[in-house]
Amino acid sequence: MSKSYEESRVPDRNPRNLPWWKKTAVYQIYPRSFMDSTGNGIGDISGIILKLDYLQDLGIETIWFSPFFSSPQADHGYDVSNYRNIAPEYGTMADCDRLIQEVHNRAMYVVFDMVLNHTSDKHPWFLESRSSQENPKRDWYIWRDGQKPGGKKPPTNWKAMVGGSGWHYDELTDQWYWAQFLPFQPDLNYRNPDVKREMFDTVRFWLDKGIDGFRLDIINTVFEDEELRNNPFAWRLFPSEDDDKSFFQNKIYTINHPDNFTFVKELRSVMDEYSDPERFLVGEITSSLETLKRYCGEAVSETQTNGLHLTFQFQALNASLDANTFRGIISKYEHYLAEPYMPTWVFSNHDQMRRISKLGNDMDKAKLNVTLQLTARGVPFIYYGEEIGMFNHRFPLKGAQDPVALKYSWLPQFLVNLLTRNGAFSLNRDECRTPMQWDSSANAGICAADMEPWLPVEPRYETINVESEESDPDSLLHCYKDLLRLRRKTPALHSGSINLLDHPTHKSLLTYERNHNEQTVQIWLNFSNRPIQTGEVMDSGALLFSTLRNSNPLQAASIYLEPYQGVVIETQTEGS
Ligand code: GLC
Repeated sequence: MSKSYEESRVPDRNPRNLPWWKKTAVYQIYPRSFMDSTGNGIGDISGIILKLDYLQDLGIETIWFSPFFSSPQADHGYDVSNYRNIAPEYGTMADCDRLIQEVHNRAMYVVFDMVLNHTSDKHPWFLESRSSQENPKRDWYIWRDGQKPGGKKPPTNWKAMVGGSGWHYDELTDQWYWAQFLPFQPDLNYRNPDVKREMFDTVRFWLDKGIDGFRLDIINTVFEDEELRNNPFAWRLFPSEDDDKSFFQNKIYTINHPDNFTFVKELRSVMDEYSDPERFLVGEITSSLETLKRYCGEAVSETQTNGLHLTFQFQALNASLDANTFRGIISKYEHYLAEPYMPTWVFSNHDQMRRISKLGNDMDKAKLNVTLQLTARGVPFIYYGEEIGMFNHRFPLKGAQDPVALKYSWLPQFLVNLLTRNGAFSLNRDECRTPMQWDSSANAGICAADMEPWLPVEPRYETINVESEESDPDSLLHCYKDLLRLRRKTPALHSGSINLLDHPTHKSLLTYERNHNEQTVQIWLNFSNRPIQTGEVMDSGALLFSTLRNSNPLQAASIYLEPYQGVVIETQTEGS
């Protein structure tokens, strides 16, 4: 190995055993779109059970289910009307119990999606709350008088996350209720101890059933300013992945309120009542890394903090595929989220344009991208269909199923195209929620051929599907399988520290080492459309993985990478 590499290697800072949730690889299922077992075109729990063997074979260790609790489905489950029951289109409580059991039988973990911030406006609590100012449930939600005189103007200038005022006037009781998201999702009032008790008991209800963790929906919006101060003006229309300013407001009184940080610690104590296995929380929070770290609390041991176990890092979502950008992201993650904190790697989810479509629907780039996702330090979150390279499906806003798209369906199409042209955000979330592509039969196998699935299948399903990629060893699917297996059996990859290596002469090369105890693994990623031949870099090494199967990257003492090729190499460590 050349001197510069020898010198840049740092000793392992992380020789400890990490808890399981830090080492795991998570797969997100959007139940509506995964597999229909009843023949109504809507995915369901029994359908998911049919596909658990597929996920186990893929190498998934933890499955996160978007909500399938009782719900009018105005936001497809993110509007809950009973937290302790299952929506009939997805199945029954017995099906849910079976799902938990079947996942556990396959040695995988179960993560449910907890929407604590708000309920559906059809939840019996809200129906009661709305019925009169004296109703005992009135204070379960956030009701306020409008501005004086007259009360016909909202109490504050607060904007909802999706734009427009978040206050909604209710004639019946002549007051306004607060909804951080859409009007049919009224916010619960966690300053009322009964609400907190009930929701924490709901969390226990599911933990008692064996749930291993929760993904917490918009958890940074639980509390708002009690004094109802107006948010100050800010020069920003759309939110970005790490900034809460949007719709020309600096949302200091409605997002990341100081009480949220205390709240997540209380919730953490509920999780800590359970052990064997340890349970975990991952928070959906769009904020700076500094704020995300605050949500994780303070270090209480070498491997644990006392807040959220994990938060999503959305910083990589829209990152351009170049070495420098990812070098910067990894450095920042290591700066803010070094042990005992742990970053996450998220490139797609049910709210975002699919990553592969941001990469020009290019399978080679997707392979490079996932090599980074599954080998950099952090917990990877894979969105269903990402493993086969499902494309985003373009739909007009009009006629959408997504309520956010419907809210903006008055926008002229040319403006929508302009606003969403670089894929940084999506106005129509149907586009990334199309049915899972299982095979080349009609409806891609998600439901019977003579049914209409709830959303149209992405047209390229005839070639991009599980069945055809299973039989092609060069497919993206096999790339995921190989990487997930490698990650699971390689301690340096799931538990090791990370150390960026320098390549002054190759700007499009990103290389890092993962170190754990005696093991050192190097990851080499070529972010350019040209091959790269490095100088002398190592005495010996074993190729553990390559995005290109029949290539020969280890050449004498140098490394040769094809365009967009990524490789994982185990290097000899001193004394070994
Ligand atoms: C989160 C969910 C999104 C949902 C919203 C309201 O952002 O990911 O799908 O619409 O919260 O619950």
